[in-house]
Amino acid sequence: MITSQLEDIEKVAKINEGKNLKYSILTMGCQQNENDSEKLSGIIEKMHYTKTENLAESDLIVFNTCCVRENAEDRLFGKLGEVKKYKEEKGTIIAIGGCMMQEKHIVEKLKESYPFFDIVFGTHTLHKFPTDLLEILSNRKRIEDILDIDGEVIEGLPIKRDDNIKASVTIMNGCNNFCSYCIVPYVRGRERSRLPKDILGEIKCLAKDGYKEITLLGQNVNSYLRVEREKNKTFEEYEGVNSFATLLRAINKIDGIERIRFISPHPKDFTDDVIEAIRDCNKVCKLIHLPLQSGSTNVLKVMNRKYTKEQYLNLVEKMRNTIPNVTFSTDIIVGFPGETEEDFADTLDVVKKVNFEQVYMFIYSRRVGTPGDKMENQIPEEIKHERFNRLKELVESQIAVKNKEYVGTTQTVLIEGKSKTNEQMLTGRTDSNKVVVLEAQEDLIGKMANLKIVSEHMWYLKGEVI
Ligand code: 5AD
Ligand code: SF4
Repeated sequence: MITSQLEDIEKVAKINEGKNLKYSILTMGCQQNENDSEKLSGIIEKMHYTKTENLAESDLIVFNTCCVRENAEDRLFGKLGEVKKYKEEKGTIIAIGGCMMQEKHIVEKLKESYPFFDIVFGTHTLHKFPTDLLEILSNRKRIEDILDIDGEVIEGLPIKRDDNIKASVTIMNGCNNFCSYCIVPYVRGRERSRLPKDILGEIKCLAKDGYKEITLLGQNVNSYLRVEREKNKTFEEYEGVNSFATLLRAINKIDGIERIRFISPHPKDFTDDVIEAIRDCNKVCKLIHLPLQSGSTNVLKVMNRKYTKEQYLNLVEKMRNTIPNVTFSTDIIVGFPGETEEDFADTLDVVKKVNFEQVYMFIYSRRVGTPGDKMENQIPEEIKHERFNRLKELVESQIAVKNKEYVGTTQTVLIEGKSKTNEQMLTGRTDSNKVVVLEAQEDLIGKMANLKIVSEHMWYLKGEVI
């Protein structure tokens, strides 16, 4: 972290000392966005704010926005309408950050329709939040702190994690793929990998603090350090790490860490060394998230995904032949421009063939500035919804069958805590990320337990300690 920012944290902390101030943070996006919120919370708590869920009693409200799909925008504008009264009544500081703030038309709309905000900051300026806040506390001028260029990789930010068993660790920022529906490359910039020593250092600290499960985060995790290698940029190797595969192998050796997950990889970058590392590393979960997006080769081409239906299925086959007990989850977009009934049938066909553990389904949403938005053959809303429902039906029927297959099996489950819906029960997840609830003593929390699955329900399984 840059020294001046640390100094500004100190300055704000002095101003705030003894005032018993509170903050809320509204996290509106993906796991990367959640990880950014944990960093923001780390910074904000160092400046003497304590967290509250109650917006009315907050002195500082931070929105960490997302722009991947349209509904995120509706949620932000709805919430802003709600917090306006707190601003007027007690001068609550309103800060809006995250991906959506990298979109010029959104910031314009904010200035026009919600001019009461204090700070907007983007994805490349999160670490400057203390400086922006200090300005506001000193002379209360509205601040726009957004950088269009790719930010540097900032290390050493304080972090306040939401969980004490599972932790997310960002390994790279940005994306170079420009899938034609996706806004991410425009708002998070080009791929930049963190250095191996910083990532491994962070995970070793997490292991010391008792964390058991690590999720490696990035828009395209399996191209970790690829740009650096291709451009012959020198970077410091550490414990032999110079690629995603070697990173997995190094993390696998860290004592205390029991499970490693990663999201999201890109099918086109699933090289053999990565597949072999997954096979060889006992701590790497065998559930692979492999975003399909569409099962139609034609649609995939227009989406700029760089693989065909057959290549995707061959990759799945190769992994099945190499990695014992491998399972798959995926992301699918329904109703991309030009998607015909035949194209959609290809998507259903892949879903039938792969039989995913989990499918995250999305209705295509036009994003300003992406090639997809400029395409003329947009699909009418009712067709999109009708296809979405058909996909959902297929996926749910597959999951119902799968759940039945779990009954009677033994699963190793990381026990994560008490069930949110029933205090008497504990909850955890299988390697394949299925939620399992069980009755057991609390001292099992944080441990790996072998459970016999005794019954199944749509969204969870029930297990017993053996
Ligand atoms: N519309 C719908 N879904 C989208 N995704 C990304 N962009 C869009 C869009 N414009 C989905 C993709 C991606 C996931 C994170 O969000 O499936 O993998
Ligand atoms: Fe978006 Fe494609 Fe990059 Fe994923 S790989 S962030 S879908 S552009």
